[in-house]
Amino acid sequence: MKLYTILFSLLVACRILASQPVVPGAVWNDTNGNPINAHGGGILFDQGTYYWYGEFKNDSTGRAMDGVSCYSSADLMNWKNEGLALSVMPQGSFSDIEQGCILERPKVIYNPETGKYVMWFHLELKDRGYAAARAGVAVSDTPAGPFRFLYSYRPCAGSWPENLSQPERESTTTESDFAEWWTPEWMQAVKNGLFVRRDLQGGQMARDMNLFVDTDGKAYHIYSSEENLTLHIAELTPDYLSHTGRYIRIFPGGHNEAPALFTKDGRYYMITSGCTGWDPNEARLLSAPALWGPWEQHPNPCRGEDAALTFHSQSTCVLPVAGKPDTFIYMGDRWNPRCLIDSRYIWLPIRFEKNLPVIDWTPEWYLSVLP
Ligand code: DGJ
Repeated sequence: MKLYTILFSLLVACRILASQPVVPGAVWNDTNGNPINAHGGGILFDQGTYYWYGEFKNDSTGRAMDGVSCYSSADLMNWKNEGLALSVMPQGSFSDIEQGCILERPKVIYNPETGKYVMWFHLELKDRGYAAARAGVAVSDTPAGPFRFLYSYRPCAGSWPENLSQPERESTTTESDFAEWWTPEWMQAVKNGLFVRRDLQGGQMARDMNLFVDTDGKAYHIYSSEENLTLHIAELTPDYLSHTGRYIRIFPGGHNEAPALFTKDGRYYMITSGCTGWDPNEARLLSAPALWGPWEQHPNPCRGEDAALTFHSQSTCVLPVAGKPDTFIYMGDRWNPRCLIDSRYIWLPIRFEKNLPVIDWTPEWYLSVLP
């Protein structure tokens, strides 16, 4: 082949890659031509490369049979499969992350003080359904891993949330005072800290989760707690490997899952979902002048076709685009519970209207539209 033919082919290939659109909900292949398998994921930007971590699904049960996948990209469009960042342990190993456990919503942050990449995830112990409600942590010296599992636990054992009042801490109301759940009296008791008190000694339940590193380098764990009824924001230790015990409750009884937190112009925003299993529901938008609150709720940030169902998706993270200040991408999962491996990704640009984020449905868009 003549040199100019090769150069021409390369130019055409580059133009095709550069002009590839993001098609929310379509199968998204990696650079080997295989569908990207990184669900409930999050993205770390590290030294010029994006790393996308997620649940590697391989059957329809939702159990973790392999672990956490990792893909890398320089341009957010073309993703190279880096293999498993964290592998589950063999059956019979009695590890917390034994094959068949439930390992969801992994997120990775980098700690410049220790030089370690730290992964947190929601962990349910094998064969115990969603009862364990633990947070798991793993570390690595390199972004793509392999990560080494450290431990799992329920956060903040022995610590009261900062915004639980003294009378609520001292209340003697317990679960056994209620014959059934979901009555108005029961809901009021939940709001007044029923489950926080129940779980004080063993640690607070931690399911759907995310991580957030603030501009001062402090890291936070945001998770659905109290039987998924209340979100907690908890401070991590300087090495990012455990909780300091300082935490707050947000919207007690609000039933929020899938928290995705980001900051712009000194204000903090969080997109969440309601709790309807794998089925989509209407996204919620919360904001606060500080991580410690006060948090307020705004109308659904989604606009356009099927906005009331978050475009058939559930938030997993909001990605700040590197090198483009105040530019964010909404990342959600379009779950397919009958075949979880075939769950798709909904990525959409976020714009701001009156200082609030807005996500418009767009069937196809180009990363070049980002400001
Ligand atoms: C909704 C959560 O957001 C998902 O991560 C997963 O836990 C499903 N529930 C399981 O039903």
